[in-house]
Amino acid sequence: MALPPSQRLWVGMLVVMVVELPGVLQKCIFDEVQAQVRAVRAAPIHPDSPPNEPRLRSLTGQEHPPPSKQQTNGGGWRTVKSPPASPQPIRIHTWIPRENDNLSDAEKDRLKSAVAEAVRVVSSLLSVNRVLGPLLLSRDVNKYCKFIWSNSRNTNYNRCGRANNNYRSETCLDVTIPDDHLAGCDIYPEPDSPRRTVLRPEGAGLPDTDFLLYLHTQSTDKCRAEPDVFAYAVHCQTDTHGRPVAGVVVICRLTESTYNHQATVQTMIHELFHALGFSKDLFHTWRDCSSSSQVGAGCSPRGKVIHSDGSGQMRIYTPSVISALQRHLASTDPELGGPLENLDVQPGRVSSHWESRVLRGSIMAAVLEDSTTVRIDPITLAALQDTGWYTVNLSRAQSLVWGDGEGAMFGSLSTCQDNSSFFFCTGSGVGCHFLHLHKGECQTDPYLEGCGVFKPLKNASECWKKDNTRQTAGDDWSGEILGLNSRQCFLTCILCLTLFCSLSTCLLHLYIHQSFVSSSSVEGRCYRHRCTGPNRYQIQVYGSEWVDCPSGDTVQIKGYQGLVFCPDRRLCLYPDINPPSDDVNTFPSSHTR
Ligand SMILES: *[C@@H]1O[C@H](CO)[C@@H](O)[C@H](O)[C@H]1NC(C)=O
Ligand SMILES: *[C@@H]1O[C@H](CO)[C@@H](O)[C@H](O)[C@H]1NC(C)=O
Ligand SMILES: *[C@@H]1O[C@H](CO)[C@@H](O)[C@H](O)[C@H]1NC(C)=O
Repeated sequence: MALPPSQRLWVGMLVVMVVELPGVLQKCIFDEVQAQVRAVRAAPIHPDSPPNEPRLRSLTGQEHPPPSKQQTNGGGWRTVKSPPASPQPIRIHTWIPRENDNLSDAEKDRLKSAVAEAVRVVSSLLSVNRVLGPLLLSRDVNKYCKFIWSNSRNTNYNRCGRANNNYRSETCLDVTIPDDHLAGCDIYPEPDSPRRTVLRPEGAGLPDTDFLLYLHTQSTDKCRAEPDVFAYAVHCQTDTHGRPVAGVVVICRLTESTYNHQATVQTMIHELFHALGFSKDLFHTWRDCSSSSQVGAGCSPRGKVIHSDGSGQMRIYTPSVISALQRHLASTDPELGGPLENLDVQPGRVSSHWESRVLRGSIMAAVLEDSTTVRIDPITLAALQDTGWYTVNLSRAQSLVWGDGEGAMFGSLSTCQDNSSFFFCTGSGVGCHFLHLHKGECQTDPYLEGCGVFKPLKNASECWKKDNTRQTAGDDWSGEILGLNSRQCFLTCILCLTLFCSLSTCLLHLYIHQSFVSSSSVEGRCYRHRCTGPNRYQIQVYGSEWVDCPSGDTVQIKGYQGLVFCPDRRLCLYPDINPPSDDVNTFPSSHTR
C-alpha cells in the first residue's frame, strides 16, 4: 500500500484481519503491509521549554508530571519526584471520526457493542501508569516545520524556525486527527529570540485516556483491494517510554449476513494487542522493568529480543514468555522462546504472530479458527507483560489446551507427522477438534506446513447445537446425542447399534502409539459426558446407561458395536473450555490446572 511520504512518518504498523465466515480461516495479514509504514514517537521535551509548555501534557508516566509539579531550575527542567503510582486498568478511549456515516444504525450499534466488549476485556487484563491529565497527541515536526534550528548554541536549538505552508493536519492511516486531540505548535522565527508565533493552538486533549483508538468504518482502497479483509490497524504514536498511545482500526465491512459478535470481539482484541505492543515494529522497543517496582519507571531497553533457535525458528526470548511456554509445554528447555510464524516472512525477518503449529488457538496466531476455539492464552499475556509497558493480570489467561504438557519438540515439523501427539493427525479423515466441542476434519494449511490437525467441519460441526442432530446423525444408528448437555466430541471406531451394524470389526491397531489417525472406520461423534473428577468422566450414548470412560483408553457401550475413545487430559480438566451459549459469557475464566 502506497502512502504519501508525510503519512509514512505517522503510521506505525498495519494489521489486517480477514473476516471469519463459517469454515473460512480468519487470517491476519498484518505483516504484508506493515513494512512500509512507521510511527511517530513523542518528541523529547525541549530543555528550555517554558513551564507551561503544552506538549508536556501529551506525555505519560512518572518522569513527566503535569506542569504544576514542575519547577524551572536555571532555565532547565527539574523533574519533581511524584508519589509512586500503582498501575491501573488501561483506559482505552474509542473515537469514531465523523465521516463514518456509511453504516446503518443497527450496524453501528453492533460494532460499538463488539468494540466496547473488546475494550473491557483488554482493560481487565492490562494496567498502566495512567496518563496524568488529558491525553494530547504530538504533532509531527517533520510535517508542520520547514526547518529546525540546528545549531546547538542557539537558544532555539531543535525548535521550528519556519512553518511548512502546506501543513494542514495530522493523519494516521485514513483518519484525520482532530486538532482538539493534538498539542499546539509554535514557530520561532529567530534563532535566539523567545519571540514565537502560534502555528496551531493547543487542543483540549482527551480526559481519562491512556490509549486512543480511532475506529474507522469505511471501505478504503485497501479494503476494496482485498475483499476478504475485514479489518486492519496501525499504531500511530508512542510516548517517551515507547508505549503506544494512539492507534487506528479500520473496519472494512460489517454487512455480512454471517456477522458473528464473538469473532468481531476477538478480531478487535487481536488488533488492539498488535497496536498495544505485540508487533514486530515494537519488539525492539520493549523494556525490562524487572528491577523496578512499577511499570514505566526505572526500566531499561531490552534491546534485541528476537533470536533464531538452533533450528532457524525465530523466537521471542524474554523472561515471562520463556517461563510461560516452558510451563505450558512442561519442559525446562532454555531454547523455548515464543515461536513466531515463519510463513511469508523473509529469512531473518520476523512476523507479529505466534507460530500456528505451536500456539494454535492463541488470539495472536496468524489464523483464528471458529471463535469458540480462540483463547487469550498465558503466553500472549506473558509477552504483553514483557513489553514493560503493562502490568498484566496473568491469572486471567484462558487455557490454551493445544500442546499442553507435550514437551519442547511439540509442533515441530520433525515430529508433527510421526503420530506421537494426539494434537496432530495424518490423512484426511473425520475426528474431533482438539477442544472436543466440534467434530473435525484432518486438514493442513500453509501455516501448518504439512502438519495435519482436526479443524472444525464446515457444516454442522458443533456438538452443542441440537439442530445439528438431523444433519449428522441421520439414521446411521451411531447413538449420537447433541445439544447443550452433550457438547463433547469423541473419536469412535465404527460405533453403531449392534442390530444395524454393517461392519463388524473395529480396527484396533489404528490406535498404535495412542495417536489420532484418520481412517474411514474412525469418526468423531457427539455424545453426552459428565465429569466425575479431574480428567475422569462418564459418557452416555443414545439409549445407553452412563458408563465410565477411562481417559486414554477405549470403552464399549452395551447394545452397540465398536469402541469409543476416551481422550486423555482434555475433558474435565479445563473449567474454562465450555460450549458457547447465548447468555453465558465465558470470559474471563480463570486458568486452572
Ligand atoms: C486478576 O484477576 C483475578 C481473576 O479475575 C482477580 O481475582 C484479581 O483480583 C485480579 N488481580 C488484580 C491485581 O487485579
Ligand atoms: C502415522 O500413521 C499413519 C496412518 O496410520 C501411517 O500411515 C504413518 O506411516 C504413521 N507414521 C509414522 C511415522 O509412524
Ligand atoms: C451445509 O449444510 C447446508 C444445509 O444442510 C447445505 O445446503 C450445504 O450444502 C452444506 N455445505 C457444505 C459445505 O457441506
